[in-house]
Amino acid sequence: MKEPIAITNQRYRLGYHVMTPGGWMNDPNGFSFFKGWYHIFYQYYPYAAEWGPMHWGHARSRDLVHWETLPTALTPDENENGCFSGSAVVYDDKLWLIYTGHHTPNAVDPEDFYQDQRVAWSEDGIHFTKYGANPVLKTPTDNTKHFRDPKVWQEGDTFFMVLGSQDLDGLGRALIYRSKDLLHWQPETELSKSVDRKVEGYMWECPDFFHLDGKDVLLMSPQGLEADGDRFRNLNQTGYLLGNIEDKKLKHQGFVEIDHGHDFYAAQTMLTPDGRRVMIAWMNAWDSPMPEIEDGWAGALTVPRELSVKDGLIMQKPINELKGLRQEVLLAGGLETERDYHLGRLAELELTFTDKPEGRLLLLTDGIRSLQLSLEPGGRFIVSRNTEDGERAAVLRNFEQLKLQIFIDRSSAEVFVNDGELTFTERIYWQSDVTCRLLAEAGNQAQVWRLESESNQY
Ligand code: FRU
Repeated sequence: MKEPIAITNQRYRLGYHVMTPGGWMNDPNGFSFFKGWYHIFYQYYPYAAEWGPMHWGHARSRDLVHWETLPTALTPDENENGCFSGSAVVYDDKLWLIYTGHHTPNAVDPEDFYQDQRVAWSEDGIHFTKYGANPVLKTPTDNTKHFRDPKVWQEGDTFFMVLGSQDLDGLGRALIYRSKDLLHWQPETELSKSVDRKVEGYMWECPDFFHLDGKDVLLMSPQGLEADGDRFRNLNQTGYLLGNIEDKKLKHQGFVEIDHGHDFYAAQTMLTPDGRRVMIAWMNAWDSPMPEIEDGWAGALTVPRELSVKDGLIMQKPINELKGLRQEVLLAGGLETERDYHLGRLAELELTFTDKPEGRLLLLTDGIRSLQLSLEPGGRFIVSRNTEDGERAAVLRNFEQLKLQIFIDRSSAEVFVNDGELTFTERIYWQSDVTCRLLAEAGNQAQVWRLESESNQY
């Protein structure tokens, strides 16, 4: 019997982000609400802190903030070499998981694979049974072997599935299928396709499609975009096409990155019972260094973020429930320039500038690792992590006023600029307590809370 890997050092374990109990994590999967609990699943390999035959790890929460790890939900069986990414939907009083079966019949060549779509269900939201007649959908003939990551939702009495795909010309695309029972699927439309491999990608991973504030949004993670100035600087990106459906096609204004940091990929959303569209993502990327691997684990999820559309852009707001993590106020009032304020290891900082600031704004540092935030006169907002290729930047549309909200955890920082017009998600492996220092000479109002630690149970 193989034993799950044990964690050997707690130094980078996060206080309020979802992680594995030990072992590897990548994409969030099956983000859903069922019988009074929020559920999150994730791509999981329990036996080493490295990617391996994919399982679905599982956690649940009453409030999207305090999570409890549950037993592994899906384990690859003799018909699958991996249970790849997918989603969850409630139907017939059961929680259904719709996932990709990944098959590598030729064990010596991992690139020789095929993929199909499969289902499993649960009545208690803990124990899952795989459908005996899987798969429910096979790769169509006008597609390459890349055919994965089903996201399912319900409209009236019909289920729709959006899938990540690659057409025979090697272009990424999103396909939609429809079903009445989750077991029989018919093609509905090719919702959207990459115009060019270098600009919109050769494969679209982890698509998600939803209506938001009068718009139709395809969120996805294209592979193969070429870096273009400040854009597309990571190996793969996550972003969206925003527009409206006409004749079953998405008419949109081009691909927009949704987060500009180093560590954000494979985002997935859910609709909460009170109607909010909430997104969560893998707080890493395939090209991120992950020093926690030495300690027996790898990967985490971002804080959940509520989405809205403003002037054609998606805005991200940390969900209100995160306020429940706030402990004592560490600081309230204006920050003085060039003075160090102690934040500790888990903190939330809100900083509103009352004068228009410019240049270097703020430094977060433990004396070894640091994150510096700056604003150039034209609105280019820069986050510099003092690591190799540490700079990431994006242009703010409205920067007459500047408001920052920053979440610090033991090995992360998430920066929300101007109510989430821009966000930067960073793994930063703090070595000791973090301080913040205002670098700009500018009037400001700040508030800092210490955040609850160990809010999750493993
Ligand atoms: C995205 C991805 C998915 C796939 C999963 C495998 O990060 O490559 O397309 O389903 O990871 O773990």
